[in-house]
Amino acid sequence: MKNVTENKETPNESRCFALASNDLLCRPSVIEPFYKDESVTLYYGDSKDVLPHIQTPIDLTVTSPPYDNIRTYDGFDFDFEAIARSLYAVTPQGGVVVWNVADQHQNGSETGTSFKQALYFKEIGFNLHDTMIYSKPCFAFPESTRYHQTFEYMFVFSKGKPKTINLLKDRKNIHSGAIVHGALRQTDGTLKHSNGAKNKKQYQEYGHRFNVWTLAHNNNKERGFHPATMPLALARDHILSWSSKGDTILDPFAGSGTTLLAAKNLGCKAIGIEISKDYCQITVERLKQMTLGF
Ligand SMILES: C[S@@+](CC[C@H](N)C(=O)[O-])C[C@H]1O[C@@H](n2cnc3c(N)ncnc32)[C@H](O)[C@@H]1O
Repeated sequence: MKNVTENKETPNESRCFALASNDLLCRPSVIEPFYKDESVTLYYGDSKDVLPHIQTPIDLTVTSPPYDNIRTYDGFDFDFEAIARSLYAVTPQGGVVVWNVADQHQNGSETGTSFKQALYFKEIGFNLHDTMIYSKPCFAFPESTRYHQTFEYMFVFSKGKPKTINLLKDRKNIHSGAIVHGALRQTDGTLKHSNGAKNKKQYQEYGHRFNVWTLAHNNNKERGFHPATMPLALARDHILSWSSKGDTILDPFAGSGTTLLAAKNLGCKAIGIEISKDYCQITVERLKQMTLGF
């Protein structure tokens, strides 16, 4: 990891941690937020340094870390393993972490960083509850030797079984109203016929969503000119799926504050950490301009 304190302005606390990361006495027990309102607390600093000071149990983390070297973010870097371990520490039993990532192509190959990170999360104790896909309606860079890249991963990790599961049920069922029939293939290869026809069970109008979500990009106005924001709907729909009103939601790579805005909108508490002061400022502006409701 690059020592970001060498040539970047970082908060005093971070400088203190970076110089004496093994010296617990150097860590103030309370760190000063960059911004705070009745539901959102935003820290300006390196998540590796700030996360060990978070005392609040985090019900849900929804975050999108830097993807390889696709964006430089002003030269800032992150210590993946330290941050993953801190996320495990702040997540109580039943808590969930949504990790939205993609891989870069380097020297003709995908890096596979997303997979390595997912396996590391498993290694330190998280369950890989689901590997979901964020599908984009169009591509950012045209490809000529492979198909255009239009998706990212949304790994859903949980500490034990997720304590809150509210699967979104907004997928229009093409068989809506029809009688349920058919058969399920068993592990031994035989077919077990459903009782649906006998019981006259009908398909409902809406079914649970699939785990591939197609979401439109934010426009410049929505993202406050941050170079790589996640769609507001991505944060909103994960918060709706894996948390309840009043829960605490974290984004350790807060960027322009998308997760924080979505959490506040849904009546949750939110904690953000962002290493760039400019992006912290964008978040504050977005929060000030925000009107409740999606
Ligand atoms: C993909 S962007 C997140 C965008 C965010 N989801 C949004 O919608 O605006 C990743 C962010 O992580 C920040 N970052 C990079 N290293 C960091 C670190 N060590 N600690 C905290 N933030 C970091 C970058 O400055 C960047 O804003």
